[in-house]
Amino acid sequence: MRHTVSYSALFVLTLLAGCAFKNPDPGPQHKMNVFIDSLINEMTVEEKAGQLTLYTSGWTVTGPQLREDYIEELKAGRAGNLFNAHTVDYAIELQRMAVEETRLGIPLLFGLDVIHGYKTTFPIPLAEASTWDMDIIRKTARLSAKEAASAGINWTFNPMVDVARDPRWGRIAEGAGEDTYLGSLVAAARVKGYQGDDLSDPTTILACVKHFAAYGAPQAGRDYHTVDMSDRVLRETYLPPYKAALDAGAATVMTSFNELDGVPASGNHYLMTEILRDEWGFKGFVVTDYTAINEMVPHGVVANEKEAVELAFNAGVEMDMQGGIYSKYIPELLEEGRIDGSRLDDYVRRVLEMKYKLGLFEDPYRYLNKAREEETLYAKELMDHALVSAKESIVLLKNKKAGNSALLPLSKSPKTIALIGPLADNQKDMLGTWHVAGDASKVVTLLQGIRETAPDVTVHYAKGAGFTGNDQSGFNEAVAIARKSDIVIMAIGEGHHQSGEAASRSDLGLPGPQQALLEKIHALGKPVIAVVMAGRPLTLEWMDENIPAIVNAWHPGTQSGRAIAQVLFGDHNPAGKLTITFPRNVGQVPVFYSMKNTGRPFDADNKYTSKYLDVANEPLYPFGYGLSYTTFAYSDIKLDRKEITEQGSLQVSINVSNTGEYEGQEIVQLYICDKVGSVTRPVKELRGFTKINLKPGESQTVSFTITSEDLAFYTRDMSYRAEPGSFTVFVGPNSAEGLEGGFELKLPDAL
Ligand code: GLC
Repeated sequence: MRHTVSYSALFVLTLLAGCAFKNPDPGPQHKMNVFIDSLINEMTVEEKAGQLTLYTSGWTVTGPQLREDYIEELKAGRAGNLFNAHTVDYAIELQRMAVEETRLGIPLLFGLDVIHGYKTTFPIPLAEASTWDMDIIRKTARLSAKEAASAGINWTFNPMVDVARDPRWGRIAEGAGEDTYLGSLVAAARVKGYQGDDLSDPTTILACVKHFAAYGAPQAGRDYHTVDMSDRVLRETYLPPYKAALDAGAATVMTSFNELDGVPASGNHYLMTEILRDEWGFKGFVVTDYTAINEMVPHGVVANEKEAVELAFNAGVEMDMQGGIYSKYIPELLEEGRIDGSRLDDYVRRVLEMKYKLGLFEDPYRYLNKAREEETLYAKELMDHALVSAKESIVLLKNKKAGNSALLPLSKSPKTIALIGPLADNQKDMLGTWHVAGDASKVVTLLQGIRETAPDVTVHYAKGAGFTGNDQSGFNEAVAIARKSDIVIMAIGEGHHQSGEAASRSDLGLPGPQQALLEKIHALGKPVIAVVMAGRPLTLEWMDENIPAIVNAWHPGTQSGRAIAQVLFGDHNPAGKLTITFPRNVGQVPVFYSMKNTGRPFDADNKYTSKYLDVANEPLYPFGYGLSYTTFAYSDIKLDRKEITEQGSLQVSINVSNTGEYEGQEIVQLYICDKVGSVTRPVKELRGFTKINLKPGESQTVSFTITSEDLAFYTRDMSYRAEPGSFTVFVGPNSAEGLEGGFELKLPDAL
């Protein structure tokens, strides 16, 4: 077989080359370079363009399907990479075609959106960010990679690290929320989890940090809409999480659909070359989002697809996802001198290097072991961690005491519960958005979870309402079971399709007739607990005013019902905290904790100050907010000095006590405020947090270190540095509460 001689021979040549140099082993990098350069020398232009082409298989389609002929393209060497093709049985068939039926036999990369799990589905990313626990987040990525790799996947299109402050945008579900500092830590944790320490380990997969850049800031929260911002906001707020992912070693980057400053990301040289390569030194490869090169025609920056390829290629984009136009136009553009041949080789080299580092040239079938797949899917370590992550992601928003006791946690003693709502006995929607390979039949529903956790409790169930329209025909059944029950649990919120891509909403209330159902049940006068499940913050003002207990569970994945039930019945004391602000109504959007003070900050005694006539400025629930079944008291904030220099550091300590009846965890947060800057500064910025566990009556002193690096920002001349002056530090349970202290940063006058 002709082709197996080609790159196997090259492999032998590489080994010989090492010997022929009569030097000590020139090292793996040199071997890889010799091998890849030799392979590139063998390739035709069409084959080179094929290595820069990525097609979806026919299995799942995650965007507008443009091509059915991916098999034909694969065999012709015009498609060197596939996505949405998984399971060993299917991938092995495709890999064999690539290795045995193409001229050079270059193995395929297999990509998939492993966003919050492969088969075992973990909480949606916005939920898991609410754990503020980088160990949990990294372990989720590690286990997701292990499971996906067992099914033939060696590249995930994750982490999505787009900072987002507009909950109308459905993809807010996929990220870590509104904060740059927290989002950067989450980005790095996910990359480390996916890629591990050695890409040649067949349980690791390439990460792909997306969507570069600033996709999370579309006008009006409408997906794919225009993004326009100052370079300062871009660099201070939106770029750091991408940089953190790359500093953690992310192998690839995905472009975003949006334009930025008038130029679509996939053709944006400023982003793809000046920042990514020249400033950040990125050595991996860039893949576009789905047909994003083709879409530069409707964007209106090119007249046709050939010009789009020229713009994207020369901007610094290596790979075309699903557009099929790199393979179509690169040969012509090269012939016409509109793209450079050595650049083409560099792009191909970056793709081949990833395949080499994954070990695919050594063994193209190393990710394709049927026995390993069978023992890995839904393995106990995955399911156990899915439960841990789901429980830790849950945020207790309200638990109002009636008399001396609050409704939660529920006792497991015999009683009758009415469980009502479209998410009460629902498997598919608990998986949330982007559960691409997730199996709904494995999901533990809330009804199942309650029956398992509290077997002595009698549970009546009624769906009551759907997610859309206004069909109230299920209300009577719901009312009937509520009347005959001691307590009501409402399982309400969004279906999995109502957040995620192409799922922006202009109204953030409970969708469909659910609000009407909630109010009808509330009118019965029974104690009601609301369990809210959604992919975004919902506007819950009526609920907050009328319902005594509110649990925000997001879409918690395969272990949903078990996790929620263990929280409701006190087997787990909730400790999650919001990483996205919950507005009172959609009119407040965007509202987030790190806003600016303005020249007319709100003053109730002064008409001419920044406010609304019909709603407070403050959100319903602020960033960092989340309750516990116990209570915590903060006292004795101390700063070990009143000023620091550029090389100095400051210790902030505070005492935290568990003043309640339950053992619990508390996420202690540290924020700073730069009171005067050469440009306006946010009223607060998160600069540290730690999660502690306290038994009732226990206290702990928590300490943080602040250095001038924590105080740096893009100053008026866009230099990134700290400026001297006064700072306030806040330490507390969320971004709106806490104790404060002050200090000065002193810098040499020379600055
Ligand atoms: C989608 C998404 C992107 C995803 C890609 C492949 O359009 O924007 O996040 O990774 O296509 O499915």
